[in-house]
Amino acid sequence: MTTTHRTFWQTPKAGNIARLTRQTERLSALPPDQVRIAVRAVGLNFADIFALTGLYSATPAGAFIPGLEFAGTVVEVGTDAAGFAPGDRVMGVTRFGGYTSVIDSEPDYLMPLPDGWDFAQGAAWPAQTLTAWYALTRLGVLQAGQRVLIHSAAGGVGLQAMKLARALGAEPVGTVGSAAKASWLGEQGFASVLVRERDFARQLQRQDLHFDLVLDAIGGRVQRASFAALKPMGRLVVFGAAEFTPTGLRPNYLKAAWRYLRRPRYDVMEMISSNRSVLAFNLIWLWEQQAEMRVLLAELNQVPLPPPHVGQRFSFDDAHAALELLRSGQSVGKVVLELDHGC
Ligand SMILES: NC(=O)c1ccc[n+]([C@@H]2O[C@H](COP(=O)([O-])OP(=O)(O)OC[C@H]3O[C@@H](n4cnc5c(N)ncnc54)[C@H](OP(=O)(O)O)[C@@H]3O)[C@@H](O)[C@H]2O)c1
Repeated sequence: MTTTHRTFWQTPKAGNIARLTRQTERLSALPPDQVRIAVRAVGLNFADIFALTGLYSATPAGAFIPGLEFAGTVVEVGTDAAGFAPGDRVMGVTRFGGYTSVIDSEPDYLMPLPDGWDFAQGAAWPAQTLTAWYALTRLGVLQAGQRVLIHSAAGGVGLQAMKLARALGAEPVGTVGSAAKASWLGEQGFASVLVRERDFARQLQRQDLHFDLVLDAIGGRVQRASFAALKPMGRLVVFGAAEFTPTGLRPNYLKAAWRYLRRPRYDVMEMISSNRSVLAFNLIWLWEQQAEMRVLLAELNQVPLPPPHVGQRFSFDDAHAALELLRSGQSVGKVVLELDHGC
């Protein structure tokens, strides 16, 4: 296929991952303010699962193409778009629409792919690294020497957060759902990792562990126990709720409602007394704040980090298998779809 057409994964509406099907369409003319990219890799995010199952508030109504980040080669530049030329290797973010072989993007949402990185590493970088950085520095205000608890530390966001926390001179302590992930993290040089036990609160108490900062995207009992383990002046930063992950291709609404009713709630008066706080964010809103996004990216450029870890690479054809692995909670690092022809 040439760049006259594109192939993409689309769902007619949220609610069931099985509705996601592959389609092809003829490309229309490139808008003058945009850059056209032949996509070579698409980064998967846990938000894709929530969007496809209808559990993500930012999901578009009706039909949509999932996907928040990609990497590829510029094939055409609009007459009013500056900064890129055909042949440039780029990575970028998009507010949905990422599961596609060709994407048109405003230049502001593109970055050059660093030398020596492959496309999969580029597609693995923007969303998870920005999320980890925003949580650690903007809301978490992490300082050198502080101890930070990072849940799902072997995952996309978690692994970047572990690396960034260490680069900031802090002491990261990770948690994971399996011993296999803990030993993998050990091989990456992260020795302080807890395999979460069913009674996570007791596990923390037994080890007398206390934290200046907690990054949580699991929720429920794990989150409650984490808040209880904060030191005075400690911050809990919440940015997800993986405990709501459906065990099938569509949500069990009864289970979800039960979890929702039992979600942790925080009393601000108690927070004043104990001098601990809760903060939360959804980075998708940064989409509208391009100036702020540029500042965050410039800060990240100053942090010496290796390329992100791509744990599992799938062919673009195998999007369902890739989503299944991510949904299972067994993936390590980033899950990426690859296209070998780019169009
Ligand atoms: N608010 C935002 O702006 C924002 C941006 C990006 C990501 N996020 C959130 O951050 C989290 C991490 O995202 P990611 O894309 O990097 O995913 P990920 O961490 O690579 O994968 C999700 C992980 O969640 C853990 N998990 C806990 N309970 C689970 C369950 N019931 N089912 C499946 N997995 C479960 C698993 O790791 P362990 O079992 O090892 O803990 C799993 O590997 C997600 O919750 C996502 O929604 C939020």
